Amino acid sequence: MTATTDDGSPQLNPHQPHPARMYDYFLNGKDHHVVDAAAAEQVLTFYPQAKAAAQANRRFMQRAVGQLAQSGLRQFLDIGTGIPTEPNLHQIAQGVIPDARVVYVDNDPIVLRHAEALLNSRPEGRTEYVQADVRHPEAILDAAREVLDFDEPVGLSLVALLHFIDDAQDPRRLVHDLLAPLAPGSHLVLSHGTADVDPETMARVMEVYRSGGVTVQLRTRDEIAAFFEELVLLDPGLALAGDWHRPVDTPESDDVQVPLYVGIARKQ
Ligand SMILES: C[S@@+](CC[C@H](N)C(=O)[O-])C[C@H]1O[C@@H](n2cnc3c(N)ncnc32)[C@H](O)[C@@H]1O
Repeated sequence: MTATTDDGSPQLNPHQPHPARMYDYFLNGKDHHVVDAAAAEQVLTFYPQAKAAAQANRRFMQRAVGQLAQSGLRQFLDIGTGIPTEPNLHQIAQGVIPDARVVYVDNDPIVLRHAEALLNSRPEGRTEYVQADVRHPEAILDAAREVLDFDEPVGLSLVALLHFIDDAQDPRRLVHDLLAPLAPGSHLVLSHGTADVDPETMARVMEVYRSGGVTVQLRTRDEIAAFFEELVLLDPGLALAGDWHRPVDTPESDDVQVPLYVGIARKQ
């Protein structure tokens, strides 16, 4: 499904590094070009923990979705999906609730090219892919309504997405608009980059992204907490990714301080 076209949407340009493909490189995936690997390697020279940070973010998504599915949530709207990396969100949700329904959204044509991998739903459940931009919540909600029942709670997942939206785009309003039509009992799952942990290194990382033409804005803990306004944060509140319900079998790679705040909150 295509919900909208947008003048600000990225174009496929194999000669420019791209965040989805750089993220794929950090996750040891195979869907990136030489230029993405070069930019990612540049980051790794002064920030060798970048791979561990991407993996910790991914594990947060998996733990959060698993927890929500265990609590009975059976439908998810995942915006900023990224290049598929197993286990994908629907595999986690349907591993718990086989007939769970998932709508994936990304504005990147690269992700669209891989959408097939996102559509391998269990037969009992359903997955759908929508190419759309988070800056157009109405278009996303209209498309999602075709698959999800908005009278029942939905898990809205915005994982490692909102730091690509600067304040000029009013990301708090976008989150508000996305949550507004969702039923009480819906949840927001969010992770967001911060420079609170290591400002100097993060400034250099941002420089690599910006020199590749990518809009990026890291935020402080308070600014990220503001996304949860009017919601009830679940235990343990807003935490750095490696600290959020840290499982006993956490890999040593998670011992790095991951510069991402993460949390889950419930709509009353
Ligand atoms: C770092 S990846 C995160 C992937 C996945 N959510 C995860 O955390 O593993 C960010 C994704 O957000 C997408 N993205 C960036 N800006 C977007 C926008 N304005 N609308 C929709 N998707 C966007 C990118 O294309 C990319 O796939």
